Amino acid sequence: MRTIMVANPKGGCGKSTLAIHLASWFARCDEIVCLADLDRQQSSAQWLERRPASLPRIRSWDAQDGAVGAPPKDCSVGILDTPAGLHGKALRQHLREVDRVVVPVAPSRFDMLASRDFFDELAETKAVRKDRVGIAIVGMRVDARTNATQQMVEFLEQFDLPLVTCVRSAQRYVQAVETGETLFDPGHNAAGDLEQWRPLLDWLVTRR
Ligand SMILES: Nc1ncnc2c1ncn2[C@@H]1O[C@H](COP(=O)(O)OP(=O)(O)OP(=O)(O)O)[C@@H](O)[C@H]1O
Ligand SMILES: [Mg+2]
Repeated sequence: MRTIMVANPKGGCGKSTLAIHLASWFARCDEIVCLADLDRQQSSAQWLERRPASLPRIRSWDAQDGAVGAPPKDCSVGILDTPAGLHGKALRQHLREVDRVVVPVAPSRFDMLASRDFFDELAETKAVRKDRVGIAIVGMRVDARTNATQQMVEFLEQFDLPLVTCVRSAQRYVQAVETGETLFDPGHNAAGDLEQWRPLLDWLVTRR
């Protein structure tokens, strides 16, 4: 199973939105997908409960006390949505279990400062040093015309980590999740948005 963790200790940077979109994308591609929600808020778990049975199925991957159990049988892709504040022992444990980490960063000074510590911590972790885990950054809720976005891009250049894509800020993301869907489910006419996601989706399926 390919396991992808979405993580950034900063609250509200878009982890759950990113996690559920990845899950629905892989489900749409006929992968057998499971989604674990390690956050007490249970945003993505509740989203999954609301998901209509007619849509590509995403299985629930049990998680308790911040740890995942065995994934459902035969899954080919596992997605981990993680809580704000993830660091230290819990972070290191998850890094032993996953293949890829996707880090959403929103273009704001507070998000950048929180991300800096997280990137430093990731870089010190054995799984990352030994190159067992691939890490990619995704700019989240990005408006390309703003100075804040330019500052975020410049800020991220100092780290040896790829900014694989930027996802625009759009109400469609907020609305789609209300009904257990994502922009990648049928009926959302997301071709333009999908283009923004494509570099990330390609990176996730590329062999390292
Ligand atoms: N690209 C986007 N455009 C517009 N709104 C977005 C976008 N991505 C996320 N949001 C909104 O931003 C808010 C925070 O997103 P989300 O819950 O995914 O973040 P989070 O990192 O999981 O938060 P937490 O740390 O609390 O778990 C939500 O209301 C979500 O709908
Ligand atoms: Mg969340």
